[in-house]
Amino acid sequence: MQLSIPKGFFMGAAMSGPQTEGAYKKDHRLESFWDTWSDLSISDFYNKVGSYVGNNFYEKYEEDIKLFKSLHLDSFRTSIQWTRLMDQNQKLNPEGAAFYHKVCACAKDNGIELFMNLYHFDMPAYLYARGGWENREVVEAYATYARTAFREFGKEIRYWFTFNEPIVEPDQEYRSGNWYPFIKDERRGLQVQYHIALAHSLAVREFHKAKEEGYLLDDAQIGLINAFAPPYTKENPTPEDLEALRMTDGIHNRWWLDLCTSGTLPKDVFDTLKEYHAAPEVRPGDEEILKCGRVDWLGFNYYQPTRVQAPKEKLDESGYPRFADPYIWPERRMNVYRGWEIYPKGIYDFGMKMKREYPEMKFFISENGMGVEHEDRFRNEDGEIQDDYRIEFVRDHLEWVFKAIEEGAQCVGYHYWGVIDNWSWSNAFKNRYGFIEVDLMNNYERRLKKSARWIKDLIEQRDNGED
Ligand code: BG6
Repeated sequence: MQLSIPKGFFMGAAMSGPQTEGAYKKDHRLESFWDTWSDLSISDFYNKVGSYVGNNFYEKYEEDIKLFKSLHLDSFRTSIQWTRLMDQNQKLNPEGAAFYHKVCACAKDNGIELFMNLYHFDMPAYLYARGGWENREVVEAYATYARTAFREFGKEIRYWFTFNEPIVEPDQEYRSGNWYPFIKDERRGLQVQYHIALAHSLAVREFHKAKEEGYLLDDAQIGLINAFAPPYTKENPTPEDLEALRMTDGIHNRWWLDLCTSGTLPKDVFDTLKEYHAAPEVRPGDEEILKCGRVDWLGFNYYQPTRVQAPKEKLDESGYPRFADPYIWPERRMNVYRGWEIYPKGIYDFGMKMKREYPEMKFFISENGMGVEHEDRFRNEDGEIQDDYRIEFVRDHLEWVFKAIEEGAQCVGYHYWGVIDNWSWSNAFKNRYGFIEVDLMNNYERRLKKSARWIKDLIEQRDNGED
């Protein structure tokens, strides 16, 4: 199938501040949750590479933005690091702000639209020490941070996002216990998730205030980015499998989709949580705050589908409910390096779900990418990494994106994750995602992979008006 990118469709790069910037002590940047974890237990990170380095975007942002332009990418998303923009008294840190002003100016000079996210799993350590998202004070502090950012950069940034994947911290830090502080407690996870929903809503309220007061561009937009993949279950499900599906979809997707489209959280999910005494604590006035959570558009990060079935055990170790167990689909195809299933049709299924259930809401694919280990194996004589697997991965996903659009999905863009190899949390630099390689042994030098040439040619056809 010949891929043809529609005019006006964003084709861009996705990245985040904490995974790229490095310079972790520059500009009086504060310590983050990740720096704390790295200091406490560096062996938890692949090859003992902690949060400090990124891919040196701090020094190389001009080169990187020019590289995006040279590949014909028209937009890129990164995030402001809360730890860089604000001081411990919750006031603007002018040195940190200066860095982001330079990034905005550089994107503008190169004709690249900047999408700015405010939070990518990177809690300041001093707030984490006060209980992180379990503490309402932190929710308020986040609203202050968002207000400061809107006012400081309001005339430089058009597309704003409150959170990237708000489901990940509750899951990784509080439910599965994969990330520091390794807690396995469904109820605490739900409280964290609820507080993030409040924090998001307060930030959207701040966005509208800032707009009314003239701090923002007239056409500025606010959104939220999540991994909204609709879950699947067995082919001939039992009622218990369908119940697992309802709660998984409810907690992972509808929670955020309802919040962002109607300013509410799903009642059926809350009713079930109450039956299990696992519902988060709700305070008077919260309902009004959540009503502010409606956004202009959504980002959909997609790597893998979620497949679930009825849980074997109904309660976890702390006596809280387990709503689902993973289901291994016999026909699955894997990205063995990351341990994630590759299922491009999931992108189309999400598009159709949006068309059916949230027809007014537009979205873009805000992350999609393939991380592969030891890419050195694929170097040709000229030293270029021949990442045909990545080309195939992107092509397969784009085909389903365009099919969804043809059938009425309001999808307005595609951002590839990790256009330049970056630091991947506890996996550090194990799996490389980039169209552009980063040479860690050679001052973070950037080099194009084969996929970079491929994506450039693809977008160029659109830009030259060819079919
Ligand atoms: C997304 C995150 O979930 O997946 C990114 O928004 C992350 O921050 C990406 O890097 C790929 O996952 P990983 O763990 O391989 O880096």
